[in-house]
Amino acid sequence: MMRVGKRTRGRQRRLGWRWVALAGSVLALSALVAGGAVAAGGGSPPSRHANPGIEARVHALLAQMTLDEKLEQLQLEADWQINDSEARKGVGGVFSLTNPEKINHFQHVAVEESRLHIPILFAFDTIHGYRTIFPIPLAEASSFDPDVATADDTFGARETAATGLKQIYSPMVDISHEPRWGRIAEGAGEDPYLGSVMAAARVHAAQGSDYIAADKVVTSPKHYVAYGQPEGGRDYNTTDMSEQRLWNFYLPPFKAAFDAGADTAMCSFNAINGVAGCGNHETETEILKKQWHFDGFIESDYTAVSELINHGVAADGADAARVALNAGTDMEMVSTNYVDHAKQLLAQHEITMHQIDDAVRRILRVKFRAGLFEHPYVDWQQAESKQLLPDAVAAARIAATRSMVLLKNNSNTLPLDPTKSVAVIGPLGNNQHDMLGPWWGVGRDQDAVTVDDGIMAQDPNTTFAQGCEILDKDPPDPPNDECGSDAGFDAAVATAQAADQVVLALGETRGESGEAESRSNIDLPGKQQELIDRIAALGKPFVVVLFNGRPLTLTKVDDAAPAILEAWFPGVQAGNAVADVLFGNVNPGGKLPVTFPRSVGQVPIYYNHEPTGRPCDPTFKWNSRYRDIPTCAPLYPFGYGLSYTTFSISNLRLSSDTMRSNGSVTALVDVRNTGSRSGDEVVQLYIHDPVATISQPVRRLRGFQRVTLNPGQTRTISFTLDRDDVGFYDNSGKFVVEPGMIDVYAGDSSVGGLTDSFTVIP
Ligand code: BGC
Repeated sequence: MMRVGKRTRGRQRRLGWRWVALAGSVLALSALVAGGAVAAGGGSPPSRHANPGIEARVHALLAQMTLDEKLEQLQLEADWQINDSEARKGVGGVFSLTNPEKINHFQHVAVEESRLHIPILFAFDTIHGYRTIFPIPLAEASSFDPDVATADDTFGARETAATGLKQIYSPMVDISHEPRWGRIAEGAGEDPYLGSVMAAARVHAAQGSDYIAADKVVTSPKHYVAYGQPEGGRDYNTTDMSEQRLWNFYLPPFKAAFDAGADTAMCSFNAINGVAGCGNHETETEILKKQWHFDGFIESDYTAVSELINHGVAADGADAARVALNAGTDMEMVSTNYVDHAKQLLAQHEITMHQIDDAVRRILRVKFRAGLFEHPYVDWQQAESKQLLPDAVAAARIAATRSMVLLKNNSNTLPLDPTKSVAVIGPLGNNQHDMLGPWWGVGRDQDAVTVDDGIMAQDPNTTFAQGCEILDKDPPDPPNDECGSDAGFDAAVATAQAADQVVLALGETRGESGEAESRSNIDLPGKQQELIDRIAALGKPFVVVLFNGRPLTLTKVDDAAPAILEAWFPGVQAGNAVADVLFGNVNPGGKLPVTFPRSVGQVPIYYNHEPTGRPCDPTFKWNSRYRDIPTCAPLYPFGYGLSYTTFSISNLRLSSDTMRSNGSVTALVDVRNTGSRSGDEVVQLYIHDPVATISQPVRRLRGFQRVTLNPGQTRTISFTLDRDDVGFYDNSGKFVVEPGMIDVYAGDSSVGGLTDSFTVIP
C-alpha cells in the first residue's frame, strides 16, 4: 500500500575565523579557508578510496539480511510516517523529524529492537541554516565569497548534527536561468562556475574531512539533474535540453560537489528529454555512479518514484519501482513502491538481487562512514543548548552584509547619515517572519531582527509606518494579501515627510519563493510600486531595500528610486545587517549571481548565452532582439554591483600568448581603490572561445576574487587558466579542448572590462 499523505515541511571541521576591521567601526568576517579552486569538467575523476574495514562490515551485514530487511533499508520515511513499528522493522531513513527526543527514541527502537540493530539515518533540509538562519543561497552566491557558504554550512551542520540528524538535503546546486521559478532562491544562480565554487565550499564545510565528526553531516546535492530549467519557469515542469547544455551548465556544480566528497544525492522530480530524474539510467548510473565513481546512495525526491506514473513512464507502482531501481535510485522517499513490489519484480526477473544488494550496500556504507553504528544516539537534552549560539549569529550577520548587492546609488544617497532622522516605510519594515526566507529550517520568527529594529539600534531617531500589509499565505489571496490596499499610504507618506531620509522595505513574502512558488509576473507584488512613487514625490533621499528570493523586474523601481539595495532574504540578522550596510559601517560588495531582466518577456536572459548568427543589435531590424525593448541589455547584468567607493581595474597581462592544451596561462590584473573609503571589489575573469565546433557562450566566468582594499590601495590578482577552463563538452558528453584563440576579459561585471587573447595549441 502506498503511504502518501500530507507532508509537514519543517523545513562542518571548525574553521578559524578572522575579524578584520573595515571602514568605520563595524567588523567584517573573512574565513581563513581559501576557496575558489574547483576541478571543472575535464578534470580527473574523484579519488574515492573505499575503506576496507567498512567494506568488510557492509559485506558481513548484508550477508545476514533477509530480503524484507534489505527492502526496509531502501525506504525513506517522512516524520509523519515513522512510528515504533516502522523503526523496529528497520526502516532505512527518516527525514523532517526535528524533535531530538523523538529522534533518539526511534533510534533506540531501531538499534535495540530490530533484528540486525541497524541505525536509522535521520535527514533534514538544512539549506541556509538549521536554527540560525543565514541568507538564502542565492544571496550567499551574491557574496562571490565561498567563505560565506562555508560559514553557513559549518554552523548549519553543527546545529543539525546536535539534533541527531546526520544527513542534509543540501546543497541545492541547480543552475537556473528562470526567475519565474521560485526555487531559484535555493541555488547559486545562473553560472556553473560560481555554482561549482559554492557547491564545493558547502560540501567541505558540512562534511568536514570526515562526516563521522559529531558536528558534521553527510550532504546530498540536489536535484539531480537540470531541475533548474523547467519550461515556463513552472515548478516540476518538463525540461528539454541538448547534451552539451546538460554537461556545460547543469552537471558541473554536481561534479564539484561530488569531487568535494558529497556521499549522497537526490534525484529530481522533473524529466529531461522525456526521462524523469529518478528514472534516468544515464544520469544516475552511467554518469554519477560509473563515470564519476560515486559509491554513496541516491534517494528519490518526495514521492518521485510514484510520480513516474504521472510522467507516463510507468504503468503502476510496480512498474515505477522497476524503472527507478533499474535507473539507479537506491532509496525511495515517502512512496513505498520498493517495499511493496520488489519481491514480485524479482520473481518476474524485472530487477535483480544484485541491484537490491548494491542499493543496500550503498546505504549501509554511508551509515558506517557516518559512524552511526558506533554512535547512533544523540544527547537530546543537550541539543537545544547548541542552537543559535553567539558565534553562529555573528557569522549570519556578516554573511548577510556580504551578500547584499547595491544596485543603484545616485548622488551618494547612501550611506545614510546616522545623525539624521530615518523613516522606515513598507510592509517588510517591521517584519520578522519573511526575513528568514523559504527554507527556514527550525528557525523561529522571533529570532529575526526586523529592519526597523536594526536601524533603530544604529539611529534612535527612527520612525516606522507600514503603508500596506503583505501576508505570507498559501494559497495567497491576491491582491488583498500582497500590499493590495493603499489605505495606509497617506500615513506612510506623512511619516516619511517628517523624516530626513527614508528606507522603503519592500519585496516578496518568503512563501512567494521556494518550492511550488513560480510566478508569471515578477514585478513587486501588489501596490508596492505606487508606494515607491508616493515616497519619490516627496523629493527626499530614499532607498528601496528589497527582500526577495528571485530576480524581480525592477524597471519602474529603478526609474523612481535614487538608491536600491538588494538584500534578498537575509536570515536572522536581517535588520542589523541592513543597518550595517545602509549606514556605511559595512561597504556593500556583493554582485549579482543572476541576470535581472527588464520585463518578464525577456526571460530567459542570461550572460552566458550563445552569440547566434544574428547577435542582438537594437538599431537594426533583422537580428535577435525584441522590437519593444530598445536595448539588448538586461536591467542589471550578472556580476554587477556597486560600492560606496570606486575601483579601477587595469593592466591585464597574460603570461603567454599561447597555451599548450595540457599547459596553463596566467592572467594578472591590477585592482585599485580609487575612492575615499575602504571597500570590496570582486574581480572577475571571463573567457570566450570565438571559433569552436559548437557555438560557445559569449562569455564564461572562469575566475573571481573578492578583495578588500583601503583607499589608494592596489592589489594584483592572479588567475590561472588551463584545459578545464578553455575546454567544453560536446553533444556526446565528451570534454574537448580545441586549438585556437581564446579571448580573455577581466572586469567588475560580465559587461565590458579589459580584454586580451591567447591561442591554444595542441
Ligand atoms: C523537495 C526537496 C526536499 C524534499 C524533502 C521535496 O519536495 O523537492 O528539495 O529535499 O521535499 O523535504
